[in-house]
Amino acid sequence: MASRRIEERRAQHKRYKEDVERTGKPFFPHAMFHDTVMSLVVVSVIVGLAVVWYLDGDGTEAGVLGPHYTEEADPGTTNFIPRPDWYFYFLFYLLRIFKWPESVVLGTVGIPTIGLVLLLALPFLDLRRERRLFRRPVALVALLLVVLSMGVLTYKGATARESLGSELIEAVPVWAERQGFAGNDEAVEGAEIFAQAGCAQCHLYIGTGSQNLGAPELTDIGSGERGADYFARYVQNPAQFGNTVMPPYAALGEENLQKLGVFLDASKGTEER
Ligand code: HEC
Repeated sequence: MASRRIEERRAQHKRYKEDVERTGKPFFPHAMFHDTVMSLVVVSVIVGLAVVWYLDGDGTEAGVLGPHYTEEADPGTTNFIPRPDWYFYFLFYLLRIFKWPESVVLGTVGIPTIGLVLLLALPFLDLRRERRLFRRPVALVALLLVVLSMGVLTYKGATARESLGSELIEAVPVWAERQGFAGNDEAVEGAEIFAQAGCAQCHLYIGTGSQNLGAPELTDIGSGERGADYFARYVQNPAQFGNTVMPPYAALGEENLQKLGVFLDASKGTEER
């Protein structure tokens, strides 16, 4: 049985060699010519795009291929939401499916490694000479599944709602419960603003957020009885209070600042509750 299979394969190999002899084309000059032409096309397209980008639009106006230069990047920004280029959306969305830290290793190392091992093993697993697509159902279905899932993930990644507080905001009801301001609508709305305005990038609040640049934890900031107005004014312009590290939030508007103030004032700490 096995020897027949081997013989068959040897015969096939012989036929293949004969085919090559009869109809094959030598690497030089055929393949080299192909590659040279294709490389020239690619380089010309890149040069062409660069020329269009440079000539179209002047220093301030953006051309079809985007502006010449934009503002300098601000490394200290706290409200920029980084997003990948579109062709990474599928990976980007995978990272949302696999949550840190439980399953993220599976998503970033596990699945790609399994895929790579399968690809490496493929020439040893699939020994048939069949190349017609419709006679290779497993390969065809695998291809369709990969394309489909990458398409879906790209779409989901492109349309994913993104805000700095999208995860924090889910914690607001818990905060309200533990701080005892669940009945106070203004405080709850203030908490939502707190979650979305990026405050938690520097401040810790009941175990969420982080402590950066020496910012104090705000869980019991309201216990000092300084009042909502004080906090609203503080957040509006921290520099007035000698705080030059925290950015001013005057852009939030009076109403939102007031709600933030009520929220901070209602944050008496969770210890004794
Ligand atoms: C870039 C980091 C940063 C961000 C973002 C930030 N803060 Fe601060 N905040 C600080 C630092 C640092 C201090 C402490 C300054 C000091 O001690 O002089 C502070 C102090 C405060 C205080 C006074 C605390 C006290 O004990 O007097 C309040 C209230 C406050 N922040 C609220 C907020 C709110 C509300 C937001 C979001 C709208 C926010 N902060 C965003 C860095 C930040």
